[in-house]
Amino acid sequence: MAGGIGSRFWPMSTQKYPKQFQDILGTGQTMIQQTYDRIRKIVSAENIFVITNNEYVSLTEEQLPDLNPTNIVGEPMMKNTAACNLYIAKKIANQNAKANIIVLPADHLILKENVFLKKVELAFNLAEKNDYLITLGIKPTRPETGYGYIQFVEKKSAEYYKVKTFTEKPDVEIAKTFIESGDFLWNAGIFVWNVQSILDAFTKYLPEMSQHFESCEYNSDNESGCINLIYPKVNKISIDNGILEKATNVYVIPADLGWSDLGTWTSIYENSNKDQNENAVNSKHVVIYNSSGNIIKLKNHHKAVVIDGLENYIVVDTDKALLICPRENDQLIKDYVQDLKTLK
Ligand code: GDD
Ligand code: MG
Repeated sequence: MAGGIGSRFWPMSTQKYPKQFQDILGTGQTMIQQTYDRIRKIVSAENIFVITNNEYVSLTEEQLPDLNPTNIVGEPMMKNTAACNLYIAKKIANQNAKANIIVLPADHLILKENVFLKKVELAFNLAEKNDYLITLGIKPTRPETGYGYIQFVEKKSAEYYKVKTFTEKPDVEIAKTFIESGDFLWNAGIFVWNVQSILDAFTKYLPEMSQHFESCEYNSDNESGCINLIYPKVNKISIDNGILEKATNVYVIPADLGWSDLGTWTSIYENSNKDQNENAVNSKHVVIYNSSGNIIKLKNHHKAVVIDGLENYIVVDTDKALLICPRENDQLIKDYVQDLKTLK
């Protein structure tokens, strides 16, 4: 899935050039390239599909030259992650009704690749034999409000658990109680299921959406015309809200992946090198006094900047925009971007 615009990561991530197509941590590879290389170790190239907005199809082709262009699927508009999951499941079902699918966000950091590959193998084995919707679960470290929280109970085995409740993006008070209770995991947003299970779940929980997608002939010349017709009618909802919060056959595999959704400035901050005062700064031309806990990102590394008396702030300067806001408000950046659009 590579069709988001990463709006909480503004102004580095923009609609023209979203974060999955950027080398956010300075590794020499963009996020989508890292994701592709990681999964390529267990899934052959002809079985990897990228689903993204039509606007980013050529960017995807440029960044993933090994991928057959027919495996890059464009959507005419952003409808969040339920629609893109149904679309791709329909295309895959048309080719192989017995396929197992792993769904990967294109913008995640995973440091422990071997652990990841082992857990994915386990997930594929489970999905092959069972009508399960499987997610990878991460041990939470803070009351983050940008994630889904999974409560697991019934112990099936030490390796995976049945999910009791799934709560997408709770408010901070609820997130705190979840963390204190100790029986919650974060949803990593990485899902594994067999194609029939996910199509059944859509029929059950998002029947209207399912019906719209019924009307197209997949992998045919008419597909994109039909998709262009149905997309405007389709509900804008995430797979988490639309399916995972409601389904009763969700299972979680706890996984210590060195994982981060590089979705917010806080997660970038946590994964950046810091000075002795815990400031993460990406330029040698910044002079800092009496300041700590800040993330300072400059697009123009040569611009001279002085910071004095600043605590726990995000400062991001690009050619087009300047952001200065408290780190704890990083979930509000989405709203700032909306408000900016109302300016003339
Ligand atoms: N094709 C397509 N179309 N992709 C999309 C769309 C869309 O309309 N909207 C989002 N995506 C892609 C994003 O680019 C990203 O790779 C992935 O789908 C997930 O979307 P996000 O918008 O980043 O979701 P989130 O981070 O708010 O929440 C999800 O991930 C969290 C962990 O990172 C949820 O699954 C949470 O439960 C989870 O904790
Ligand atoms: Mg995300």
